[in-house]
Amino acid sequence: MIKNDLFLKALKGETVERPPVWMMRQAGRYLPEFMELRKKYDFFTRCQTPELASEITVQPIRRYGMDAAILFSDILVIPQAMDIEVEMKPNFGPYLPNPIRTKEDLDKVIVPNIEDTLGYVMEAITITKEKLNDDIPLIGFAGSPWTILCYCVEGQGSKSFDKARGFCFTQPELAHQLLQKITDTTIAYLKAKVKAGVNAVQVFDSWGGMLSPQDYQEFSWPYIQQIVDALKDESPVIVFGKGCWFALKEMAASGASAVGVDWTCSPQNARYLTGGKVTLQGNFDPARLLSPPDKIKSMVHQMIREFGKDKYVVNLGHGILPNIPLENAKAFVDAVKEYQE
Ligand code: CP3
Repeated sequence: MIKNDLFLKALKGETVERPPVWMMRQAGRYLPEFMELRKKYDFFTRCQTPELASEITVQPIRRYGMDAAILFSDILVIPQAMDIEVEMKPNFGPYLPNPIRTKEDLDKVIVPNIEDTLGYVMEAITITKEKLNDDIPLIGFAGSPWTILCYCVEGQGSKSFDKARGFCFTQPELAHQLLQKITDTTIAYLKAKVKAGVNAVQVFDSWGGMLSPQDYQEFSWPYIQQIVDALKDESPVIVFGKGCWFALKEMAASGASAVGVDWTCSPQNARYLTGGKVTLQGNFDPARLLSPPDKIKSMVHQMIREFGKDKYVVNLGHGILPNIPLENAKAFVDAVKEYQE
């Protein structure tokens, strides 16, 4: 049904002539046509207006022809739907004026009806699917429960999320209750996205690497596993954890279709830790897109040789940076399309 099915084939582990390519955070951030819309509409207006969200989703595809699109939205629409106020402050990032720190705070947090609170995302999916015309697959996403907890407790971005970790270690019962509420909401949300038409879902555990391997097994992984269990029969699931090389073994055995890796883990080590069976996604250092285009191309070819062309999705090891020159992003995508064994 989808004309370019390289990405879906790679997620199934099928042999492909070349690996598929997309970039985390490809929608928004660095494109001039996005910056135009950014001047006119604030962040959550862009997220909540299906026409704008779908337009931003297809902008990078028109320019570079990636093998998959990712719906423009944000992981923080989940706490918003759970009645936790979230603002996106220009030049600051996310700001949650009433962070969750006590039982009283937690009791006010709801597990919402998804259609009522996040129906606009489903509408954006419908419109985006029309624009994509079944040319390429559409990816839906959510943050991992731990990563969402980080923002809910900290109240803003952080280099180390000390308050979030402190909350888990001083009030573990409350932390687990919050994580479960987020998980229940996320499962219903991702199921609704699949029903609305996304072809795969990715869970971003952007702050998983803040936890020790042992604490990761208590506060992050079990909730991601619940999401994988609930979704995997309906859609391929990609699990990405930043700084989570220590959890690659669990991730590979989880039933997820693919596992994302960041650039601090070599392709060889990622294959070794995942037992060579699961599809891997990654792991170009986003800052390496600042190298000259020729250098980017040779490094991408080397990366494909090291991961192997099958059971592999070419991507960055984390989101694209806002200051990447357009021709460098193009070199990244073109290098994959030009790849020959
Ligand atoms: O991948 C895509 O292109 C789809 C869009 C997308 C956004 N956020 C749009 C966005 C995705 C997948 C996200 C996920 C997200 N959001 C994550 C996980 C991935 C990651 O990078 O680790 C996290 C941690 C967030 C939380 C968040 N949203 C932060 C920390 C910020 C501010 C800093 C930044 O990333 O620019 C945002 C705002 C945000 N989300 C912007 C965009 C395009 C920039 C703000 C703006 O456009 O006004």
